[in-house]
Amino acid sequence: MCGIVGYVGHRPALDVVLQGLGRLEYRGYDSAGVAVVDGSGSLSVGRKAGPLANLAAELDGSGRDGFVGTTGMGHTRWATHGAPTDRNAHPHSDATGAVAVVHNGIIENFAQLRAELEASGVELTSETDTESAAHLIARQYAGDLAAAVRAVCRRLEGAFTLVVTHADEPGRIVAARRSSPLVVGVGDGEHFVASDVAAFIETTRDAVELGQDQVVTISADGYTVTDFHGDPVATRLFHVDWDLSAAEKGGHDYFMLKEIEEQPSAVRDTLRGHFVDGRIVLDEQRMDTQELRDVDKVFVVACGTAYHSGLVAKYAIEHWCRLPVEAELASEFRYRDPVLDRSTLVVAISQSGETADTLEAVRHAREQKARVLAICNTNGAQIPRESDAVLYTHAGPEIGVAATKTFVAQVVANYLVGLALAQARGTKYSDEIAREFAELEAMPDAVADVLGTVERVRALGRDIAGSKAVLFLGRHVGYPVALEGALKLKELAYMHAEGFAAGELKHGPIALLEEGLPVVVVMPSPKGRGVLHSKLLSNIQEIRARGARTIVVAEEGDDTVRPYASHLLEVPAVPTLLQPLVSTVPLQVLAAEIARARGFDVDRPRNLAKSVTVE
Ligand code: AGP
Repeated sequence: MCGIVGYVGHRPALDVVLQGLGRLEYRGYDSAGVAVVDGSGSLSVGRKAGPLANLAAELDGSGRDGFVGTTGMGHTRWATHGAPTDRNAHPHSDATGAVAVVHNGIIENFAQLRAELEASGVELTSETDTESAAHLIARQYAGDLAAAVRAVCRRLEGAFTLVVTHADEPGRIVAARRSSPLVVGVGDGEHFVASDVAAFIETTRDAVELGQDQVVTISADGYTVTDFHGDPVATRLFHVDWDLSAAEKGGHDYFMLKEIEEQPSAVRDTLRGHFVDGRIVLDEQRMDTQELRDVDKVFVVACGTAYHSGLVAKYAIEHWCRLPVEAELASEFRYRDPVLDRSTLVVAISQSGETADTLEAVRHAREQKARVLAICNTNGAQIPRESDAVLYTHAGPEIGVAATKTFVAQVVANYLVGLALAQARGTKYSDEIAREFAELEAMPDAVADVLGTVERVRALGRDIAGSKAVLFLGRHVGYPVALEGALKLKELAYMHAEGFAAGELKHGPIALLEEGLPVVVVMPSPKGRGVLHSKLLSNIQEIRARGARTIVVAEEGDDTVRPYASHLLEVPAVPTLLQPLVSTVPLQVLAAEIARARGFDVDRPRNLAKSVTVE
């Protein structure tokens, strides 16, 4: 997820683009860059690692030499391919500097395109997938930038928004879109392209949303839209009535609510590019297949929500790989003196990649000669840098302190690690792995289906906002979901909440049950491990017998549980191991709504930090 702005009009492009990027920095802040085309056929590019302020300072320091002109574009980066450095910062150019490209998304066949370019003598200077697009467009250019961009887009696979300028075409910017956001801002004598309307609504509230596989050319006086083959397509003008703050939050009151809605994309983008030619591939694998095959024990270490995703990994890896897996809180891991050696794989999960407890666990594991695989949402962070292998989640920046989209992305990444281990160890045939991956590819739609039903959850949240506590129960992979639901409620609504394995109810927590107490029960599929379903039904009876309210998260059509649910929250039927991806969503929404009903700031809960860099 990156921030992109393009402008053609009558004002100095550099100022307009920098202002627009400032409204999009929540989409990425690993680096920033601008390109401006002046009337003399000169294209100036400036780019800098770090937040936008670093770039602005560098431009001010150089007196903004060369950056004169009314055609320009810019980019704030959330790194996917290539660490957040100056040379990986966008825009990227071809060897002559005539073309500049900024990009949001993942070009899945970039390795093949990169090899083709290098074989033809092109020297690539960055680690990014975007640079290959710049060289290809330059090679394709024959006086018509839109035609060149269309020709290259027809060769790209994956998700991408590309915005392109050419030194020989001042007064024109071309942008292309596939599965990644792009809107056109329609002004008076000036036009924009941007990742979202926040970049330009201070100038114009009239906009056009681009559709799939479309290319737009903007000039000061207008815009034209075609498909990737050059055929004109109809567009629809809409008026933006959000204020700037709402625009940055996608129309929501809080970033967290927007990020809950982004979970289908977080799942889809985390999966993207990890199943190539029938095989699971990790991002950085400084461990060969034999080393993966030699693994005889797995530890999953993490904190908080990341730990809960790790508990899901335990079930998946044990089932798919027949390997013993221990999920351990990172803060406990190294003090328990775990038994580790070269055949131990430690999976370290951290969305920030900077959590001190997890980082120290990684260091301890490596001191003990164990191999470390990091699952991280932040390219270039300390934990992946100190690991032997990395699988990045692609949830984009998560502004809300409470983790939501990074949780589902971590769960998906854990499944990919499990399948990669099963593949290396041969505990699953390639057709079985392909089937599991295909089931994962259906999950974004399943998560989107759940998001379509959350109004009932919000009403329930307002109804129980005055409760003194809420209990959460689950079995199997429903148990980590129960823990995560309780953590969300604690950290957002400052309410006592406890998650526990449903089988533990009779061993103590049942004493907590009293009239009207809300108890969330995460039901497994009646079609999966049927015995679990019937045992949870028994738990529900125990709860109801003591007058507590049963809030049941259950599979659509689970009619056996319906009579015993005070409130039934239905989720799509999915394979047993994948259930956390859908059953967690209502619990996120429930916690956020209770927090709002209690008047708390959902994005910035008290006492919490987004990344805990102290032990
Ligand atoms: C989650 O809602 C919390 N904000 C917190 O538990 C978080 O998951 C934990 O601190 C781990 O952070 P990390 O993923 O950046 O390592």
